[in-house]
Parts: sequence; C-alpha cells; structure tokens
Amino acid sequence: MSDILEVKGLSFRYPDSTRRAVADFDLSVPQGEIVVLAGPSGCGKSTLLRAVNGLVPHMYSGEYGGEVKVGGVAVKDSSMRDLAQRVGFLFQNPENQIFMFTVERDVAFGLENLGVPREEMRTRVDEAMRLLDISDLAQRAPHELSDGQKQRVALAGVLAMRPQLVILDEPTSLLDPKTAAELVALVARLRRELGTTFVVVEHRLDLLVKVADRLVVMNEGRKVMEGTPRDVLFRDEAESYGVAVPAITQVQKMLAKDRLVPTSGLMTPAELAAAVGGGSR
Ligand SMILES: Nc1ncnc2c1ncn2[C@@H]1O[C@H](COP(=O)(O)OP(=O)(O)OP(=O)(O)O)[C@@H](O)[C@H]1O
Ligand SMILES: [Mg+2]
Repeated sequence: MSDILEVKGLSFRYPDSTRRAVADFDLSVPQGEIVVLAGPSGCGKSTLLRAVNGLVPHMYSGEYGGEVKVGGVAVKDSSMRDLAQRVGFLFQNPENQIFMFTVERDVAFGLENLGVPREEMRTRVDEAMRLLDISDLAQRAPHELSDGQKQRVALAGVLAMRPQLVILDEPTSLLDPKTAAELVALVARLRRELGTTFVVVEHRLDLLVKVADRLVVMNEGRKVMEGTPRDVLFRDEAESYGVAVPAITQVQKMLAKDRLVPTSGLMTPAELAAAVGGGSR
C-alpha cells in the first residue's frame, strides 16, 4: 500500500535560530501504521509534526528544505484548509484547542468551519462523541471539564473531521495513568476499525510500545534510530538519547543477555514472570 506520509530530506530552521530544528529527516509511514516519535527535549519533534500538519511552513516562516507529502500531495503546496481535512492533530495542551461554549459545539467546530451540511455534521459529531465516550458531556462547558475530558473533547473534534492521518503531540502528558492507558487503547482501536494512521510524540513508552509498529528516535533534529519498538529499545544507544526505556524492558534485556528469556517480542510483566518460572497465578 502507498505511504500516507512521506518525509524526504526535510530541514527547517526557525528565523531567529542558528541551528536547524529538523535536519535532513526522512520518514515513510504506510496507511494504518502507528509510529511513535521519541527523543530529548528540543530535538525537533514538535517541529516535525508542524511540518506534517502544515503549520511549518504556512504559519511559521523559516528556512525550509526537502519535502513532506501527505497522501501524495506536498504539504508546502497544500492550503491549510485542505490539510485540516486530511491531517488531524492534537496539541500538547488541549486548552489551545477548545474554542466553544459547549462540548458539542466544540466537537463540531472544525466541521462548521468547513461548511459541512447540518445533517452530516450531526452524524459525525454524534459518532465522534460516542467513540470517545463523551456523549453525556455534550451540553457541558469544556473549560469546566477535567484535563482528561478536555483531551477527549479535543480528540473528538479531530476525529469528526475523519482525517487519514492523526498526529498527537504528547497526548498523555496531562492524563492520569488510567486515562492515558484508555487513550492508547483508543488509538489502537481507531487504527483497527477505521485504518487511521498515527504519528505520536510520546515519552510514556511503556503504554505506547505495545500498540506501536515503529519507534523513531530523534536527536538534534536528526533521525538517529528507527525500527520496531523491540529493536530500538533493546539497543544500548536508546538510553543515551534519553529514551525512557520501560523498566520491564530493561529487566527483559538483562535477562536476555544471560539467555534466561527470549529476546524476541516485548514482554509484559506477566509474560516475563512466567518465562523465569514465576507468576504462578
Ligand atoms: N517558534 C519557534 N521559534 C524559534 N525556535 C523554535 C520555535 N519552536 C521551537 N524552536 C526551537 O527548535 C528546536 C526544536 O524544538 P521543538 O519544539 O521542535 O522540540 P521538541 O522535540 O518538541 O521538544 P519538547 O520535547 O521539549 O517538546 C529547539 O531548539 C527550539 O528551541
Ligand atoms: Mg514538543
């Protein structure tokens, strides 16, 4: 299947900076993949996402080189309006993405801007609210909700647009562990049921590696590692790039070195316990 996202030799330098925020970056993502992007603060993750949704170069000017294509069309040559329909994105802070006085109106915001007919809008908004389990919040004021609920409202607004590609910038940073796990499960479900492609910047790898097809590590604007989560997390350099290797994976890695457990596949705590002869329950 063709790639929904193609990044070729992308470089971007903000005007007041001496250094490129993204440098000679390549990435191809086929439809339906979940890709996780990790790397230290300031390495260029958010800038890369901006180059995918068009904020770079349409809203942030700077020195731009290389190419980003979504669905075969260059982002540089697409209008923000067109991109808004094809790339859904969730900011790090949902406050930046909540505009209206009721949840329902907020979820409909993007569709209203596009002039989608009322009936169609109703259907899509109801569907998105159902999917995120926020139908009972429809008439509430978004600013009175919890962070986790706000995150769901913002994501419902994204999904109502039915984008082929969704990019999420640290979506679990404001969530408690349970809500974060639910969000990750939702990402997996949307990929399974709708074939949606996800590129997710995330530090909480313990949750995401279970559903991700690929882990990409950035450092100083460049791609420094890429592979299945297992491949990347098992390599010693991952930690040197500040990747938070989940504790359970560190243990698996140590045991695998002594050939006490297999090196294939990322194990859950229960699997690891079973492999070393424990976890009898
Ligand atoms: N609007 C901007 N103007 C100028 N420089 C910027 C701007 N936004 C980011 N930068 C710089 O570009 C580089 C990459 O920043 P970016 O926000 O993409 O990193 P990041 O990997 O998302 O970091 P974090 O994990 O902290 O969110 C940094 O050096 C940052 O200071
Ligand atoms: Mg960032």
